[in-house]
Amino acid sequence: MRLTALTFTTLTNFIFFTFLLLHHGHSAGPPFACDSSNPSTRSYPFCKTDLPITKRVRDLVSRLTLDEKISQLVNTAPSISRLGIPAYEWWSEALHGVANVGPGILFNGTITAATSFPQVILIAASFDVRLWYGIGQAIGTEARAVYNAGQATGMTFWAPNINIFRDPRWGRGQETPGEDPLVTGKYSVAYVRGVQGDSFEGGKLRGHLQASACCKHFTAYDLDNWKGINRFVFDARVTQQDLADTYQPPFQSCVEQGRASGIMCAYNRVNGVPSCADYNLLSKIARGQWDFHGYITSDCDAVSIIYDKQGYAKSPEDAVVDVLKAGMDVNCGSYLKNHTQKAVEQKKLSVSQIDRALHNLFAVRMRLGLFDGDPIKRPFGNIGPDKVCSQDHQALALEAARSGIVLLKNSARLLPLPKSKSISLAVIGPNANSPKTLLGNYAGLPCKSITPLQALQAYVKSTIFHQGCNAVNCTLATIKEAVDIAKKVDYVVLVMGLDQTQEREEHDRIDLVLPGKQQELISRVARAAKKPVILVVLSGGPVDISSAKYDNKIGGILWAGYPGQAGGVALAEIIFGDHNPGGRLPITWYPEDFVKVPMTDMRMRSEPSSGYPGRTYRFYKGRKVFEFGYGLSYSTHSYEFASVTQNKLHFSLSSSLDKVKNLDSPRYRLVSELGEELCKGKSFSVTVGVRNHGEMGGKHSVLLFVRQEKPRNGNPTKNLVGFQSVNISGGERAQAEFLLNPCEHFSSANEDGFMVLEEGSHVLLVGDVEYPIHVVF
Ligand SMILES: *[C@@H]1O[C@H](CO)[C@@H](O)[C@H](O)[C@H]1NC(C)=O
Ligand SMILES: *[C@@H]1O[C@H](CO)[C@@H](O)[C@H](O)[C@H]1NC(C)=O
Ligand SMILES: *[C@@H]1O[C@H](CO)[C@@H](O)[C@H](O)[C@H]1NC(C)=O
Ligand SMILES: *[C@@H]1O[C@H](CO)[C@@H](O)[C@H](O)[C@H]1NC(C)=O
Repeated sequence: MRLTALTFTTLTNFIFFTFLLLHHGHSAGPPFACDSSNPSTRSYPFCKTDLPITKRVRDLVSRLTLDEKISQLVNTAPSISRLGIPAYEWWSEALHGVANVGPGILFNGTITAATSFPQVILIAASFDVRLWYGIGQAIGTEARAVYNAGQATGMTFWAPNINIFRDPRWGRGQETPGEDPLVTGKYSVAYVRGVQGDSFEGGKLRGHLQASACCKHFTAYDLDNWKGINRFVFDARVTQQDLADTYQPPFQSCVEQGRASGIMCAYNRVNGVPSCADYNLLSKIARGQWDFHGYITSDCDAVSIIYDKQGYAKSPEDAVVDVLKAGMDVNCGSYLKNHTQKAVEQKKLSVSQIDRALHNLFAVRMRLGLFDGDPIKRPFGNIGPDKVCSQDHQALALEAARSGIVLLKNSARLLPLPKSKSISLAVIGPNANSPKTLLGNYAGLPCKSITPLQALQAYVKSTIFHQGCNAVNCTLATIKEAVDIAKKVDYVVLVMGLDQTQEREEHDRIDLVLPGKQQELISRVARAAKKPVILVVLSGGPVDISSAKYDNKIGGILWAGYPGQAGGVALAEIIFGDHNPGGRLPITWYPEDFVKVPMTDMRMRSEPSSGYPGRTYRFYKGRKVFEFGYGLSYSTHSYEFASVTQNKLHFSLSSSLDKVKNLDSPRYRLVSELGEELCKGKSFSVTVGVRNHGEMGGKHSVLLFVRQEKPRNGNPTKNLVGFQSVNISGGERAQAEFLLNPCEHFSSANEDGFMVLEEGSHVLLVGDVEYPIHVVF
């Protein structure tokens, strides 16, 4: 055959046509404004990348009609085609991996899945800030790749969820980094820096955002639906003291250190005021005190409820006026689209309030590079679809699951199990072979998924599986069959716990025990088995497993959160000793009788006179099933304070004595009065030595607490002031260094919500090793 001119042309046409198909049909390319091939748009000042963003935004907003302006105040913002501005979707999700649960991300093109990291509560259990940052980076990179592939209509992600996991029953506690304000704050900073494209240390953003992160839900939101009381009507009564040293610090870190470009205001009211209508919260605190430069979105339909459900506003227009005047910029939902026009006509709202919001909104879109012409030619433009589900990211998902899983019990060193071809294994339980349970909520589609059963089968050929229960609710259990199987094998692994039918958004638990007949199944199987059994608990919130803890027929207990796409493999590696567990609980595990405390009681501090036990390891005085920070290893570790550069801190100012205040016995000073310079000058470093006494190496998290020798009533029992993950081989020693600032780390809030430093002995605490530091005025 000869290649004639004709066939050559046909071939060329064919190639060209195929290219068109690929380019426009299959994958449309990302939406962007200011196309340089369009002579009318490229001349607009708002398209000039060498102008400052504030100038560009001012130009853009000045060109919009009132109708166009109002159209942009909702999450699904339509295009303004006469200016070449494409539609924009503000709502996308990426809590623990890029997800298609918000409308801004579509997995229907080249990219059909994204790396699914463990649910956040398990990521937090690693106490490893570098790992958290790496996960943020991976998520931000995958997000940008999805956009570049033309499968995202927005780049604003509504994560992280940094509300304090205040009550163990909260259905969304799984989404958070746990109950400690410092851990939650540090998690938020690492995640936000990673996602937005900043460096680990921060301060390297230089204008462009890789993707936008959002600190949510501002503030004191941690009740979804408990005994008929839901988040839409709930009025959280919060003391100034608890706000100052529990509820607000994570948000302050997320904004000040993370430099997050988004905030979401919550559904609930705080002390009577809906968060989205709270000028003090949004404008004075976030924008004023914390220097927030970004956009503020409402939670979805959180504006309509201000009138419809809370009756706080007397008309829909009043609700619109309240939120825009408070400083909110965009409404998830359609309420602002429907009612803003009338509010302007009624002269309740000036157009300048709308312009204020639009400035914040378009500034973020510009910082994302969506008004710079073809983004392929811009920073982040070369991130291709191969970055999604890459080997590196999938390995990181495995590393995250390994690092988070917590060993809660290991009597007689039952674990790890022998890696022997000749053993037989039974895997029992409703969570053993459920890919969905692994993911938790706000999950995308995982790159791949291996269940605990499949991963265990890779170690032991002769593995028998029995589900044991009809479902996780275990209303029906096949106990006899399970017992018969358990009798026949060398080892039994029970994979039990919760899933999204038990704890989720809009569904808080009403008890803390394992659902249905799970407990009965566990103890009957344990009693029948040849050797003590292994119990794996999958859950976000804590479960009262006291009876398993004290049952000597249960030799090992592991908590694995919802461990993500690689969680099954991580579990099997730990069970068979290919990985040494080092995770620690990021939340107190309370006993079942904690449920006598109303979930609606927001007080952190205990009140012994009325029997109120307080909340979290910082204030709770009752019995615990497992403590915050608890977690075993296949090795044992010991600590020492290798060096502490101060043991007495004098805060003597020339004119100080009259300013030192007395309250009860200890003398104290307001941190704000001491001033940043003096506080910094009193900073000192603490070096903790850790020795691994076992044979197995691994990661180990050093948790440094401070407690007061004589804590005044209302002060925390202890506070976590630093944590660090170190890697230590068997028999080796490592060091962890901490820089402490007494004003920050030794202080607590007074009743008016001001941080105070008290005189007296403050004790550093690692494990059970202590080191006293004296504060003297
Ligand atoms: C993906 O879904 C969106 C929204 O439904 C649609 O506009 C787009 O054409 C779809 N893409 C493909 C490649 O099917
Ligand atoms: C806004 O109006 C549309 C059309 O009338 C309606 O479908 C929608 O429910 C309204 N939104 C709200 C939040 O009331
Ligand atoms: C238990 O779970 C099964 C399967 O999901 C479901 O059909 C059943 O309604 C649930 N029972 C209760 C009491 O929730
Ligand atoms: C821990 O140290 C070992 C031995 O030096 C090394 O192989 C391993 O990669 C390290 N792990 C981490 C997570 O740094």
